[in-house]
Amino acid sequence: MQARAEELRLSGKRIAFVPTMGYLHEGHLSLIDAAGRESDIVIVSIFVNPTQFGPQEDFENYPRDLERDIELAKKRGAHIVFHPSAEAMYGECPLTNVEVSRITDVLCGASRQGHFRGVATVVTKLFNIVKPHLAVFGQKDAQQAAVILKMVEDLNMDIEIRIAPIVRESDGLAMSSRNVRLKAEDRKNALILSRTLFSIREGLYNGEPLGKLLEQGRAKIQKIPGARLDYLEARTFPGMELLQNADPDKNCLIALAARFGKVRLIDNVLIPKKGEQRV
Ligand code: PAF
Repeated sequence: MQARAEELRLSGKRIAFVPTMGYLHEGHLSLIDAAGRESDIVIVSIFVNPTQFGPQEDFENYPRDLERDIELAKKRGAHIVFHPSAEAMYGECPLTNVEVSRITDVLCGASRQGHFRGVATVVTKLFNIVKPHLAVFGQKDAQQAAVILKMVEDLNMDIEIRIAPIVRESDGLAMSSRNVRLKAEDRKNALILSRTLFSIREGLYNGEPLGKLLEQGRAKIQKIPGARLDYLEARTFPGMELLQNADPDKNCLIALAARFGKVRLIDNVLIPKKGEQRV
């Protein structure tokens, strides 16, 4: 892959990269679309990265379907699908990690120890292998996007980062490879997540206080049978500072994570600062 990427660069091609863990859905495919709009060559990676899962997490049960993924990615415009083995990626005994501090201590980082170290390390390795000019990440993993933006800035990586909007099912549930693992009842109940986020956003646009909206949101989710809320918080984006009150001069990320059975879901809405377009 590295040799091929070098050849492409030398022949003047602009490479856009979409890193994924596979089991592709419309959300991933929209990242491929975004990559295609700004490049000559789109490379998609499919690698369920073991180092970003904790020992009690769902690495073994993470859904996988490589054949289908390759077909979907190619149909949507990917020129190359890179799917290395764990052995090829990590070799015998890697001793080097990439660690982005502070912004990884909160939200998902607080309950998933080591997760963002695994993400930052594998993304660095993938960047070094795929040699992209541009890489596209989804806003669904907003904290991950913030970590990648900071890592690229701090380590002077010569790569442009794009963040593409969340793609939702028609009923509002944010698309995720993990959704297929939801039991039917939990799938219905999980709609509380996007509904709560939308109603907080609505409340903020109507000038209601952030603290009260978050408290009401937490109470609503905790009442839903089978839902275990991990967090519902407002933070600046991409700085990840806690927001007690809405501040029109800062991007406001309302983010949550909740478990339904063994499935952990995340979702968010981003309220852009004054002067930037509302989404
Ligand atoms: O967002 C994901 O699917 C993963 O965290 C990533 C960026 C592919 C790294 O393994």
